[in-house]
Amino acid sequence: MVQHKLTIMRMKETGSKDFRELLKEIALLMGYEVTRDIALEDFEIETPICKMTAKRVSGRKLAIVPILRAGIGMVDGLLSLIPVAKVGHIGLYRDEQTHKPVVYFCKLPADIHDRLVILTDPMLATGGSACDGIAMLKERGCTNIRLMCLVGAPEGIAKVQAEHPDVDIYVAAVDEKLNENAYIVPGLGDAGDRIFGTK
Ligand code: PRP
Ligand code: URA
Repeated sequence: MVQHKLTIMRMKETGSKDFRELLKEIALLMGYEVTRDIALEDFEIETPICKMTAKRVSGRKLAIVPILRAGIGMVDGLLSLIPVAKVGHIGLYRDEQTHKPVVYFCKLPADIHDRLVILTDPMLATGGSACDGIAMLKERGCTNIRLMCLVGAPEGIAKVQAEHPDVDIYVAAVDEKLNENAYIVPGLGDAGDRIFGTK
């Protein structure tokens, strides 16, 4: 289902409404993978039939941190899965000439260093934005960070792995390459523009 939904997102005729809904649905589905190993503890409950020892989430609390703008498109899907997660925001844009990320905003939960952080951004192109976002989280004491993207280019994946080998990367697809404008090929175009209809 993730691949099917991603195919529709890639199609150039898919409009913002469908694009947003599909990204939200994929984020929820990928959230299953991203959280599949989080710690559980025994919890005594009583069903209508009898007492039992059930399971519930224990240990570290979670935070979802989108990289603005496009990362916002993955937050609602993850919140459907993890309603108690807190949400921080990191604002980064890529300079059109240099393709290097520029920071313009950062607002994170005060206890972010105690949380398992899921950093979201649909596009992992050169990897500059993801690496800077991870570095900002580490500067604030985060030690357990997972990066959740939709489409990754080999260059971006390699950069994150080299600079932040402790961060697990989750992607729905690994594409072929970057073009001369550092866009992912075949990719899906500019994720932020397609989510928010700004082009
Ligand atoms: C896009 C995308 C990533 C970044 C990926 O954001 O959402 O954040 O580019 O490229 P990179 O891996 O080469 O850094 P953009 O800077 O276009 O900002 P936007 O989300 O506000 O459109
Ligand atoms: N940012 C996007 O939105 N798309 C790309 O292909 C690369 C960077």
